[in-house]
Amino acid sequence: MKRFESLADTMAKEIRSGSLPTGSRLPSLRHVMAQHGVSQSTVFRAYYLLEDWGLIQARERSGYFVAPGALTQDRVAKGSSTGSAKVEISDLVFSVLDAAKQPGIVPFGSAFPSPKLFPLQRLGKSLAQAVRMTNPWSTVVDLPPGNEQLRRQIALRYVGIGIAQSIDEIVITNGALEALNLCLTAVTRPGDVVAVESPGFYAALQAIERLDLRAVQIPVDPQTGLDLEALAKALEEHPIRACWFMTNFQNPTGATLTAEKKQALVALLAEYDVPLIEDDVYGELHHDPDYPPPALAFDKKGLVMHCSSFSKTLAPGYRVGWVSAGRFAGRVQRLKLMTTLSASIPAQAGIADYLQHGGYDKHLRKLRGAFRVQLDAMNAALAHYLPDGATWSQPKGGYFLWVKLPRKIDVMQLHFLAIEHGISIAPGPMFTASHQFGDCIRLNFGHPWSAETGKAVETLASLIERAER
Ligand SMILES: Cc1ncc(COP(=O)(O)O)c(C=O)c1O
Repeated sequence: MKRFESLADTMAKEIRSGSLPTGSRLPSLRHVMAQHGVSQSTVFRAYYLLEDWGLIQARERSGYFVAPGALTQDRVAKGSSTGSAKVEISDLVFSVLDAAKQPGIVPFGSAFPSPKLFPLQRLGKSLAQAVRMTNPWSTVVDLPPGNEQLRRQIALRYVGIGIAQSIDEIVITNGALEALNLCLTAVTRPGDVVAVESPGFYAALQAIERLDLRAVQIPVDPQTGLDLEALAKALEEHPIRACWFMTNFQNPTGATLTAEKKQALVALLAEYDVPLIEDDVYGELHHDPDYPPPALAFDKKGLVMHCSSFSKTLAPGYRVGWVSAGRFAGRVQRLKLMTTLSASIPAQAGIADYLQHGGYDKHLRKLRGAFRVQLDAMNAALAHYLPDGATWSQPKGGYFLWVKLPRKIDVMQLHFLAIEHGISIAPGPMFTASHQFGDCIRLNFGHPWSAETGKAVETLASLIERAER
């Protein structure tokens, strides 16, 4: 049993014995740390577990309290043997995402860019226009694969990067996340092995956990991206049924595969007839003039399912994404119908109108320019404040930096300390199932730079000094 689990167990016993009555406030963080000789992060993780067991409740700005009914519970702590690393990953992810939502926090840990950078008013106009012009039959016609105008506009954008894409292979989804999940469901069965990146986007691990699959982790280098030799070896050794990779501006490292590597990846997977679920949500956010064509550009067998969305580039919260699903399009479309039926019909129509009339490319140029400026500012601040020996990636797109810290740091402790100082970060262990990257953090530079941002980097650097193991 891990330290936080045994601390949670001890505290659960106290609660059930009645020594902490219903509604009473839990002892202060400092008190619990001193009493049990544990770190702050251990206490927080124990609290999260107690919350999961329904024994305590968090009240905003007031701390934790014993939940009503906690005393009468059976041994809910049966769940204390959480054991599996995957479950821990979910807990960690939820806690970090929750922290990043706190109002006023400096959002270095956030997965989103600043909503201020999006043309929300102009988009609203398109939405209003589309809703006014709605043909009542669109509620039926726009069911999967989705609004035809929108699919046509998306296909045109593919043409812009040299990919001829039939609109029949494009399925509109509720964001890229649904597209990725539907693709994974379409090509696997419980127990199958799936190759994912490490570090990689945590949602891949969550989907694997939910669908009862098994993961093989393929290393990603922050500079050169996915290790193709390791993938080739994994394909030899495991019955891999699907891969879930990012080839452009990978989350969390920012790495992009060269065109040669993308081509080699597609060829390798074609040899084994293994589908590639390609997550390209940041592709349009290239800082250089051109969009690096995704692996889809090299696909000749219909094995690549290219997933993206407008969430990071135009319309956060509209939940409109898509997959160009190659030979799996029919299967994905049916799964879409069977699960959430359809993406929002007004949102699809609104985005289709914007793509036609709103000046999407002009907006994207502005957005990319903003990210370049913010990256320069972040680079300068990190160079100035971070301790000697710290290194960080130099992404050519997107808005994430992957920082490797020079000392033995407990990044989970750093995460909790940073929250106390009004700063969120995304700790490295969120991005793997194998307890790695305890000395790495992902930083978001997708928000306009301000004096406060610079100050936050300075504070973070001073907390790094304090978070040494
Ligand atoms: C790498 C990656 N893929 C997919 C998504 C989900 O995209 P969407 O919001 O369109 O569902 C995210 C969001 O954080 C992401 O970072």
